[in-house]
Amino acid sequence: MNPILEVSRLSFSWPSSTSAVLDIDSFSVAQGEKVFLHGPSGSGKSTLLNLIGGVLTPQRGEITFNGMNLNEMSSEARDLVRGDQMGFIFQMFNLLPYLNAVENITLPCEFSKRKAMRVLEQASSLGDEARRLLSALRLDPHILEEKSVTQLSVGQQQRVATARALIGRPEMVIADEPTSALDSNIRDRFLRLLFDECNRNGTSLVFVSHDLDLGKNFDRVVSLEEINRSFTADTNE
Ligand SMILES: Nc1ncnc2c1ncn2[C@@H]1O[C@H](COP(=O)(O)OP(=O)(O)OP(=O)(O)O)[C@@H](O)[C@H]1O
Ligand SMILES: [Mg+2]
Repeated sequence: MNPILEVSRLSFSWPSSTSAVLDIDSFSVAQGEKVFLHGPSGSGKSTLLNLIGGVLTPQRGEITFNGMNLNEMSSEARDLVRGDQMGFIFQMFNLLPYLNAVENITLPCEFSKRKAMRVLEQASSLGDEARRLLSALRLDPHILEEKSVTQLSVGQQQRVATARALIGRPEMVIADEPTSALDSNIRDRFLRLLFDECNRNGTSLVFVSHDLDLGKNFDRVVSLEEINRSFTADTNE
């Protein structure tokens, strides 16, 4: 199958640093593939996800997403690609406290006409699709709508953040340790529900976690230590 994502000869260093945090010869993700990426704290997992998502740009190398070379684009064009074709689940969820769960989930459709149109091809409103996703992730939308997202449990916030990443059927979902605060039986069930939604739409998934145990559920497990030639982990771990 064609890759949705191809990273080649990539090198990235933070402006404050003289050495590269990432030096990756090649990393790719096929359409619909679910990749589990692991590595110790400080090894550059979140940095790589931000490069893939076009939030950061590498000093060297190429990142091709869905046939487009992200490095050759303006930052506005990259923002559009990310907004239209990717869904991000952040390490700290980043839900907006002044919006309720459904409003948080439909927010990407305010920024992306493409996502909004793709929702309305299948659902009668954006809110209906948000509620369908919440139910699919085993949350009761009626209870959530009466609460601020700040009053939700960590597990509930995690599923709201996941629904927000899934809305509008993005080509790829990028998940940065969304399960770190969950106990193991909830985590496994959450993964199955996330996979069901990805399978429904042929969405590729790049999922980062410290928790190697989760890797068995994925199509492929990638160790950042193995693909990153300038590996440096925090020494206190
Ligand atoms: N904004 C930044 N400016 C400068 N250096 C940074 C910045 N963000 C991260 N770093 C450095 O880049 C390296 C990789 O950080 P990154 O957050 O990608 O690690 P990680 O693998 O996601 O770690 P964790 O598992 O703790 O989330 C670290 O040495 C970190 O200190
Ligand atoms: Mg991280």
